[in-house]
Amino acid sequence: MTDSQFTPRVFSGIQPSGGLTLGNYLGAMKRFVDMQSADFETIYCMVDLHAITTWQNPADLRHNTRELCAGFIAAGIDPEQSVLFNQSQVPEHAQLAWIFNCVARMGWMQRMTQWKDKAGKNQQNASLGLFAYPALMAADILTYHATHVPVGDDQKQHLELTRDIAIKFNHDFGVDFFPVIEPVIEGAATRVMSLRDGSKKMSKSDPSDMSRINMTDDADTIAKKIRKAKTDPDALPSEIDGLDDRPEARNLVNVYAALCEQTPQQVLAEVGGKQFGEFKPMLAELAVTKLAPISSEMARLMNDQAEIDRILARGADRARAIAAPIVQQTYEIVGMVGAKNGA
Ligand code: TYM
Repeated sequence: MTDSQFTPRVFSGIQPSGGLTLGNYLGAMKRFVDMQSADFETIYCMVDLHAITTWQNPADLRHNTRELCAGFIAAGIDPEQSVLFNQSQVPEHAQLAWIFNCVARMGWMQRMTQWKDKAGKNQQNASLGLFAYPALMAADILTYHATHVPVGDDQKQHLELTRDIAIKFNHDFGVDFFPVIEPVIEGAATRVMSLRDGSKKMSKSDPSDMSRINMTDDADTIAKKIRKAKTDPDALPSEIDGLDDRPEARNLVNVYAALCEQTPQQVLAEVGGKQFGEFKPMLAELAVTKLAPISSEMARLMNDQAEIDRILARGADRARAIAAPIVQQTYEIVGMVGAKNGA
């Protein structure tokens, strides 16, 4: 439960480690826009410090961070209403992450499935940052005393760890300082799957570009990728149960539902009985209608990178105004001399 002493505040982040995918958009960004209009203070971050836990070419990182910012705005995030910035401009994230490195236990980190997946068999050669990644993520959230964190399903375990860190910190120091956050994992598209393999998550790091829809893809490319998406030979069912053991069919129905803001059951009531030959063009048309305005707005915003940099700098100032006193108080709780009010 979220403690009522904390005002409702939303934080979430996206890595600028490649282009934005349809999975990022439906699982995260679109949800961020929904929460912006609710009764929440909303803080959204391009987590460039997280991105460098695996190698990033510096020029690409700069480009991807700006493009991600353009994506946020094009998708509907208003940089005046929400706080929008890149992580490295707010040093409090890294400061609090160090404290949390000393709270989190090795065993907790070793259990993280994303660590196991990303480091693979070559753990000895993975960066220390990749291992410590979830402690930085906890710091991102808790340096704002955020209470609600909208994410896709793959981040659930990291959010549980964030709760564990807050609870252990509060317990170890005998305080009630960090909120125990609420994960917000909702909607039809919490886990958008690869278009080539319904058992794998759609990901910007998949070597096959055909496996994903990128937010920068043009209409023809989107239509082609959907036409070629892996499916089975059966018609679509009219009931949800009929999607059992049909991961590719389930995925396309979920994507359709998320794009048109319906439930999968409502979609099946409309398309049940149709073959994929008929459903795929419907999905392609819907996807192009919804995504094309976002990608063209992203391209327009990218023509004025100085303006993007100004937006990020201003967002970082606003973020620091919230984060700095919380980190100061944390230092004071931990026993750092000179921490009180920055004195
Ligand atoms: P990242 O950059 O991998 O993904 C950003 C967001 O997109 C969601 N997502 C998906 N949702 C549905 N289907 C998919 N195929 C899909 N792929 C990605 C992710 O769940 C995420 O919500 N560790 C985070 C970034 C992060 C963060 C944070 C998030 C850093 N600090 C603090 C929340 C709060 C990450 O790597 O997300």
